[in-house]
Amino acid sequence: MSLPGKIVCIGAGYVGGPTMAMIAKNCPMIQVTVVDISQPRIDAWNSDDLPIYEPGLDEVVKACRGKNLFFSTDVDTCVAEADIIFVSVNTPTKTKGIGAGMAADLTYWESAARGIARVSKGYKIIVEKSTVPVKTAEAVEKVLTSCADSFFTFDVLSNPEFLAEGTAISDLAKPDRVLIGGKESDSGRKAVACLASVYQQWVPKENVVCSNLWSAELTKLAANAVLAQRISSMNSLSALCEATGADVQQVGYAIGMDTRIGSKFLNASVGFGGSCFQKDILNLVYICDSMGLKEVAEYWRQVIVMNDYQKTRFVHRMISTMFNTVSNKKIGILGFAFKKDTGDTRETPAIDVCRGLLTDGAKLDIYDPKVKEDLIRSELQLGKFEWDHPQAYANRVAGIKDESINVSSSAMDAARDSHGIAILTEWDEFKALDYEEVFKVMVKPAFIFDGRNLLDHNALRKIGFVVYGIGKPLDPFVTEHKET
Ligand code: UDX
Ligand code: UDX
Ligand code: ADP
Repeated sequence: MSLPGKIVCIGAGYVGGPTMAMIAKNCPMIQVTVVDISQPRIDAWNSDDLPIYEPGLDEVVKACRGKNLFFSTDVDTCVAEADIIFVSVNTPTKTKGIGAGMAADLTYWESAARGIARVSKGYKIIVEKSTVPVKTAEAVEKVLTSCADSFFTFDVLSNPEFLAEGTAISDLAKPDRVLIGGKESDSGRKAVACLASVYQQWVPKENVVCSNLWSAELTKLAANAVLAQRISSMNSLSALCEATGADVQQVGYAIGMDTRIGSKFLNASVGFGGSCFQKDILNLVYICDSMGLKEVAEYWRQVIVMNDYQKTRFVHRMISTMFNTVSNKKIGILGFAFKKDTGDTRETPAIDVCRGLLTDGAKLDIYDPKVKEDLIRSELQLGKFEWDHPQAYANRVAGIKDESINVSSSAMDAARDSHGIAILTEWDEFKALDYEEVFKVMVKPAFIFDGRNLLDHNALRKIGFVVYGIGKPLDPFVTEHKET
């Protein structure tokens, strides 16, 4: 199968940017262009300060940019010239109308498809890269067929992205598998083979898996739901561990040694976050509901319920331990991103934890090495699902005057004069802090609430801290929250 000459990707985000950079790096013979309607985003991709932080990304982009990797806002021209068009636009959860709060909002997808139909001639392969509900390819095909003229023919493929933020470059360099779904027709099979030949430039043949279109679409939602379910299972057990004196890390370790289960994604935490898990599970729940599969929908909904419970439980634990009140007490928040090695805050558990503490009158001093102050402030102001709506965002940001929140530029500053510290992201630098010094600058008794089980709790206790770890045997000082 001959390789395509030109590839374009619509959407220069967390998925599109790193994925195209990796294709460009491994396929010097292919010209790869990433297009976006956002001029500031494209300018950032063309600058030294890339719009997203991802370990190793800078090097890959710098090695290829200007050679066979380009970033542009000229969507129409680049789409018209491309052989393969990846679509990697945002698919937020709907905020209003049917399925609000659960179904995916496909506005950006539809507009991208209409744009493709308007400028395309000849034959093109269109690849669904952003996570979309099952059967989106069918809808896209309808839009393309009804809007395009008779000189345009195409195949739609589903090629879901399994990369995780923070490890995107290594995930892309050595993927567990690349999944390509296409129609079971001659033309569909040829299109799948063409895309497979691109990945096979660096991915072993046996790791490039082909399936039908709907299996590929569903696999993405299902894989994230199953991963999130493991974390929620461990989080549910963490509450039981605290009640019985078991240690969730010991339990998780022993479970993970069973090769039928495996050791990954068994870390209990303050809750999972990120742009995918919650969104994809809600999507799955919505699909099940729409098909009348109420019990199946309810089963998966519980994964989210458990995640919300874990965040609430953490806040309650903090408040009850600090003598049932955090009113006017300064609390240092270490970490705001949804996990380490990313500046992304979408659905980060820190939002709900911080809001919970603010509601009880706490004064927060927040530090995260990669999240900027205005993003932290806006996340704490916005209602759920509003982040993706620029006007609501702008209005809220303009109106923020919250003296209860301070954003510091170091962990030490956030800790100074605080009654307690909460670790909400597992950044490596929090492990390396001088906790003797941290103890000195805090109000006594000094509390540490480790939402990621990142630190050496016994060492901290020797210094004098009162420590709470998720699913760990409790200090006598740490108490249950009693609702009054
Ligand atoms: C189980 C545990 O595997 C073992 O570690 C423990 O010590 C005792 O309980 P067992 O009940 O003998 O062992 O059988 P197992 O092979 O785990 O299967 C349990 C059930 O799950 C069977 O009905 C099996 O058919 C079913 N199963 C297993 C599936 O339906 N699908 C699978 O993928 C695997
Ligand atoms: C996820 C999937 O892993 C990836 O395959 C998919 O393509 C996109 O969604 P991502 O959201 O980037 O990737 O991060 P991931 O590493 O999966 O972590 C998600 C959340 O779960 C984070 O908040 C993380 O801190 C939390 N987590 C992860 C735990 O709480 N415990 C664990 O054991 C693992
Ligand atoms: P993901 O995490 O899935 O990569 P992001 O929100 O980071 O999602 O990126 C999606 C990008 O898609 C945004 O930069 C947005 O501006 C861009 N986008 C949305 N619709 C279009 C469109 N019709 N044409 C070009 N770019 C688009």
